[in-house]
Amino acid sequence: MSNTIRIAVVGSGYVGLVAAVCFAEMGHNVICVDNDQQKVDALRSGDCLIHEAHLPELLERYRNSRVRFTNDLGEATRGADAVFIAVGTPQGDSGVADLSYVEAVASEIARSLNSYTVIVEKSTVPVYTNEWIRRVMERNGVAKHLFDVVSNPEFLREGTAVRDFLHPDRIVVGTDSERAAAVLSKIYEPLTSGGYYEQPGAIDGFCTSSEPPPLLLTSTKSAEIIKHASNAFLALKISFINAVSNLCEAANADVEQVARGIGMDSRIGPRFLRPGIGYGGSCFPKDVAAFRCVAEELGVDFSLLAEVEKVNKDQKIRFLNKVRSALWTLRGKKLGVLGLSFKGGTDDIRESPAIELVRMLIAEGCSIRAFDPAAMTRAEHVLPAGSSLQYVSDEYAASNDVDALLILTDWSEFGRLDLQRLNRLMRYPIVVDGRNLYEPDVMLKNGITYFSVGRPTRHHMHELAATGTR
Ligand code: UGA
Repeated sequence: MSNTIRIAVVGSGYVGLVAAVCFAEMGHNVICVDNDQQKVDALRSGDCLIHEAHLPELLERYRNSRVRFTNDLGEATRGADAVFIAVGTPQGDSGVADLSYVEAVASEIARSLNSYTVIVEKSTVPVYTNEWIRRVMERNGVAKHLFDVVSNPEFLREGTAVRDFLHPDRIVVGTDSERAAAVLSKIYEPLTSGGYYEQPGAIDGFCTSSEPPPLLLTSTKSAEIIKHASNAFLALKISFINAVSNLCEAANADVEQVARGIGMDSRIGPRFLRPGIGYGGSCFPKDVAAFRCVAEELGVDFSLLAEVEKVNKDQKIRFLNKVRSALWTLRGKKLGVLGLSFKGGTDDIRESPAIELVRMLIAEGCSIRAFDPAAMTRAEHVLPAGSSLQYVSDEYAASNDVDALLILTDWSEFGRLDLQRLNRLMRYPIVVDGRNLYEPDVMLKNGITYFSVGRPTRHHMHELAATGTR
């Protein structure tokens, strides 16, 4: 194998596009394939299609040089040492992952292979998918010595995808072939050797040349399970802290203090213990359901995952009830909404708890003034503006003359609002914060009644009455 590795990435969604430009940043020649010609044209002209830090600059640097875009999978496969499959695996009936895109791509790769190629699953797939890919290759008459199938799951988060890709906690390579392991090790060598981190202009992050990321070699099936189990465990952590936050509300304790206290135990760790309105996005809801289905199919009782899903669903209802109890009744109320994306830093609204809550509030008879720094265009496609919903230009326009302001997404700028200005703009100074972006005392000092998650509510009027001030 020569030093230049030729990589084809199939699919230009979050994982595919980020992987393609990051492989280029690592020095490889990449061809990124998508069957949507409009997407291919947009990418060729430098339009990233998604809101993601560092992506525009990397795309600009490498498009039409080290990264090329095409809709011709056959051509891309024929010239590649490794083909990464990064197409969608949407949720099918009753939670089972729909693998039809993976299968279609595998068949097309099979028809084009003419020399040894490593086929890499990068999409999140259930255990045994690698065996199905292998079978598809064999059914299409590809000789065994011409290919290997590897599972190389991706752990990037939307909003920090480029940094996560180039500064991973670990790189998991699942394969039962030494030859394929050698190809993957070579692809990731710029990261695992630390060389990349010394490169001028390298994207900043926690990995360094003296502390490069480890590459973990496993069996293919273990790697497939590592991906599902990682997402399911993170979702479980979130549901756990959300359940604890409910307990804190009942006991009048502070979940932020509790999360800090348990997170300081290094066996537990502080991350993914932020309570809120439940997890969303294109991964956790789908992957927890798919993992539950995998367990069922294999005859394993993993009902813990059903509980994780139940807590997550209930968390939205609890928030709705919190708004109701803050305002007494909902019908006819005018509400400001900050945040529509499923989390801060992204314009993605898939499975966004914020979107679901806006829908529920409209169904309850509220009218909404909504603002999101990046997701409003996407939101308008699923929630068109109308008499009950207006999209506005900033946080203060959303607060204008409202009965309460709701914070539904953890955009960092929502945590830095001018609270005096907010107070003056709102009809009633009530904030219901689903992301705990403020210290309750700060809100109180600014004359705002503040409801948050898992913390005692601070009522401005009550506390002033109790201290005899006004
Ligand atoms: C998630 C995983 O974090 C990635 O490791 C994985 O690669 C990715 O799925 C995937 O499978 O592709 P992502 O969906 O981008 O990444 O977003 P997260 O940052 O994990 O957040 C997911 C949801 O959980 C969001 O709605 C977020 O607001 C919520 N969350 C997260 C909490 O409610 N509390 C937390 O403490 C953390």
